[in-house]
Amino acid sequence: MSFDRSIKIAPSILSADFANFGAEIRAIEAEGADWVHVDVMDGHFVPNLTFGPMAVKAFRPHVKTVMDVHLMIAPVDPYIDAYAEAGADVLTAHVEAGPHIHRTLQAIRAAGMKAGVALNPGTPAEAVAHLLDMVDLVCVMTVNPGFGGQKFIDMTDKVRRLRAMIGDRPVHIEIDGGVDVTTAPLVVAAGADVLVAGSAVFRGGSVDAPEVYGANIRAIRAAASA
Ligand code: DX5
Ligand code: ZN
Repeated sequence: MSFDRSIKIAPSILSADFANFGAEIRAIEAEGADWVHVDVMDGHFVPNLTFGPMAVKAFRPHVKTVMDVHLMIAPVDPYIDAYAEAGADVLTAHVEAGPHIHRTLQAIRAAGMKAGVALNPGTPAEAVAHLLDMVDLVCVMTVNPGFGGQKFIDMTDKVRRLRAMIGDRPVHIEIDGGVDVTTAPLVVAAGADVLVAGSAVFRGGSVDAPEVYGANIRAIRAAASA
């Protein structure tokens, strides 16, 4: 994974057909997805439960771009090796998931993955001030994590603050939650470069009508670049 700050669209498969992940992943990548965002939820850190390392391993052969795994779990450390073995390219842990985020990020990199740190809407940018030299990505949640299709929470001030803190470090700013053609330009103007979108990509499409996914991805990319 070489670093550049060009806009990347990362559809979240939380909004995909849960009975058809392989075909859905192939469809969104064929229709222009830059990354595939995989939302892991444990029913403890967030009030929802999705899938674990075995499912992520099953997704891996279908992902030809980047498998961007978002861990909404606590604790994180006991599972890092399992997600490395499952083939995660990027593994993102929440700064709120435990008392030792610094050690968690060290362990993610030691396991050979790119390290991401995620901030819930109530967590200030300063929470990652001492982590910026040990991450490849900062994920700014613009919804309270757990579900797709929620209303965007405006975090543009936090994004601007993070962009200033990051400076010229090769660190992506990822936005996650409620990204669509209206909100994408706001967060890109503030300094974001990776846009996660679930409902705004999958809405109206299916593996039998993947062209809708392509139109949705192109619309978000165009809005972001406007
Ligand atoms: C929420 C997840 C998001 C979500 C985005 O907890 O982390 O990735 O799937 O879905 P939309 O784009 O519909 O808000
Ligand atoms: Zn996510």
